[in-house]
Amino acid sequence: MPNYAYPATRLRRSRAHKWSREMARENRLHSSNLIWPLFIANGEDEEPVGSLPGVSRIPVSGLADKAREAIDLGIPCLALFPHTPPEKRSDDGEEASNPDNLMCAGIRAIKDAVGDDIGVLTDVALDPYTSHGQDGLLDEAGYVVNDATVDALVSQALNQAAAGSDIVAPSDMMDGRIGAIRDALEQEGHANVQIMAYAAKYASAFYGPFRDAVGSGGLLKGDKKSYQMDPANAGEAMREIALDIAEGADSVMVKPGLPYLDIVRMAADRFDLPVYAYMVSGEYAMIEAMAAAGAGERDVILMEILTGFVRAGASGVLSYHAPVAARLLAK
Ligand code: PBG
Repeated sequence: MPNYAYPATRLRRSRAHKWSREMARENRLHSSNLIWPLFIANGEDEEPVGSLPGVSRIPVSGLADKAREAIDLGIPCLALFPHTPPEKRSDDGEEASNPDNLMCAGIRAIKDAVGDDIGVLTDVALDPYTSHGQDGLLDEAGYVVNDATVDALVSQALNQAAAGSDIVAPSDMMDGRIGAIRDALEQEGHANVQIMAYAAKYASAFYGPFRDAVGSGGLLKGDKKSYQMDPANAGEAMREIALDIAEGADSVMVKPGLPYLDIVRMAADRFDLPVYAYMVSGEYAMIEAMAAAGAGERDVILMEILTGFVRAGASGVLSYHAPVAARLLAK
């Protein structure tokens, strides 16, 4: 056997030039890996979100322009989240099933303007609509009940599909909701509406700025640990994903992103369907805070992290930085 050890082998050789680094590159981030989450404002104006510097809620009248911007940047999909006004929030979150709610208005604004040139993904969960900020319905003891919540989610998902949503994305972590939503979509003539299951969603402290953005943060009492996953668990995430696939999910998501890259890799290795990661609001804020503190260059940090998701096996990443990243990729 020839000896391929040093000095015959010098791994630095291929790193010596920009061109050879590019030749040796194993993974590439592309704008088609990005999904851009947008918050919908109830009024006519853009509303900056304090805890997410650089991110604003967009009025329905401004969504078409955002969609065109995304299309120009090669971003294939937008994810929508409504900021429901307080007077429309209730214990049972029934505004979620109102065909004229902010979410449906947002879907229609985008689809009327750009049609099928971009995908619209809509969040299925009750927290932007409940007066208590939980993702489901409460019993007298304040426990989020599973099966009655699933019924409400089915009606919410059908409402979004009827308004033109391309992908419904249940983020509530109730048991059995993927199968129930799939059945209902089939029965109601929405066979081609996809389901992206927030399959492995953890009870994370990284969601704080999101809750400010949708206005549920101040309302939420307690936590979401009775339905979102324990951050210490990995095997259980595989069970969650396997169940959602069996129930009819077209793709699955791991959320948050960076602290759970091992889960992304495990899922990508085990399951033959697209696995997405959500780089959540607290992760966006962390990057911005690091840059603002002078501790690193925002754009370089961002691309390193996003490339890490692709390297870990993700088919795509939901990120509030999506347009920033797409612009950097286009340079
Ligand atoms: C709602 C939902 C949350 C996020 C997406 N959908 C918050 C939560 O579960 O409390 C978080 C996204 C982010 O932090 O960017 N079910």
